[in-house]
Amino acid sequence: MNKPTDVQPNGQRIPNGMLQDNYPRNMWWVAAHADEVTTKPLARWLLETPVVLYRLEDGSPAALYDRCPHRWAPLSEGHVAGDRIVCPYHGMEFDTGGNCTKAPTQKIMPKTAQIPSFPVREAGAYIWIWMGDPEAIDGEPPDVSYQVDPDWSFVHGYYEVAANWVLIRENVLDLTHIAFLHKNTFKQDDWITAPDTYMEGETVCYEQEFDLAPLSPLFCAGMGLPEDKPIKRVQKGRMPSLAISFSDWNVHDPNPEPGRRADFIMRGCHIVTPSTRGHTHYFWAAAFDVPEISDEVAAKTKASVTAAFDEDKHLLERLQDKIAKDPRGLDYLEVTLGADGAGIKVRQILNKKLAAEGRSL
Ligand code: FES
Ligand SMILES: [Fe+2]
Repeated sequence: MNKPTDVQPNGQRIPNGMLQDNYPRNMWWVAAHADEVTTKPLARWLLETPVVLYRLEDGSPAALYDRCPHRWAPLSEGHVAGDRIVCPYHGMEFDTGGNCTKAPTQKIMPKTAQIPSFPVREAGAYIWIWMGDPEAIDGEPPDVSYQVDPDWSFVHGYYEVAANWVLIRENVLDLTHIAFLHKNTFKQDDWITAPDTYMEGETVCYEQEFDLAPLSPLFCAGMGLPEDKPIKRVQKGRMPSLAISFSDWNVHDPNPEPGRRADFIMRGCHIVTPSTRGHTHYFWAAAFDVPEISDEVAAKTKASVTAAFDEDKHLLERLQDKIAKDPRGLDYLEVTLGADGAGIKVRQILNKKLAAEGRSL
């Protein structure tokens, strides 16, 4: 019998940092859906850091380290007063730069009464955060304006997944698993060949055309298409940043009913943000280039997509658990297939970003 490490001559050493902190700091990550962030402070672990997110009374978002420098109370248990957040324990107040502006029992603030603050941006449907060196900010978050475009309908959801973020990122860039893992949910069993993958600048892309076949029932309701009608499909994926990727289902109905549209897009959006060690925030969205789908269609789409993504969560959590417990762990080589083109580019980009921060997998 082959020894585990001898099995695959073209294998690579993986989990490639899946068990450790493999998170680049100098990039925009999504901290929360915009609706989650209000004047009531929100506690969230991001990149193994406790963060409090809140809005000032003028509506602008802010983020601070969620630990008061006095006796370490979580500021997320406090409240917002104007443009300051007030500690729940002894009432120290902090501005958005993390500077203490008031300590109720004394006039002079200790110089050390300061906490880290994080740059944030509101873009599309999400609040983005920069956890690294603010001097290294080299641009704005990716363009996600379609998420708030009234010509699009936007259905979204959230999971906390007990798996490293790279496992989810690779999962959503290799959709050949749809024909197998999701055979009873997506029911799109024609995705059994590898797409073309290529780079457009810094963006990882894939593209693939499919012959006439019924569309996955997950998306028929949003487009108003019958579930058994053969349609043409072009699948296009883009990953403009390690934090976010899109999978566009470009649908063409060759025989539309009179007065009906022939072409539709469903844009899947997959956002990952590392949380605590071995856990990831996964924000997903399904958007149709159809204005104002009904609440009933939105609810149906959300329920069916959730049923499918439950399958990914289950599998990836088992996978992570196996990696963590298997004594062969990091020495067990992983085989690469043709369908892993986009996933390999993810690892290359990740390695490059970590190297720029003086780190490696
Ligand atoms: S712990 Fe925050 S003011 Fe004392
Ligand atoms: Fe999946």
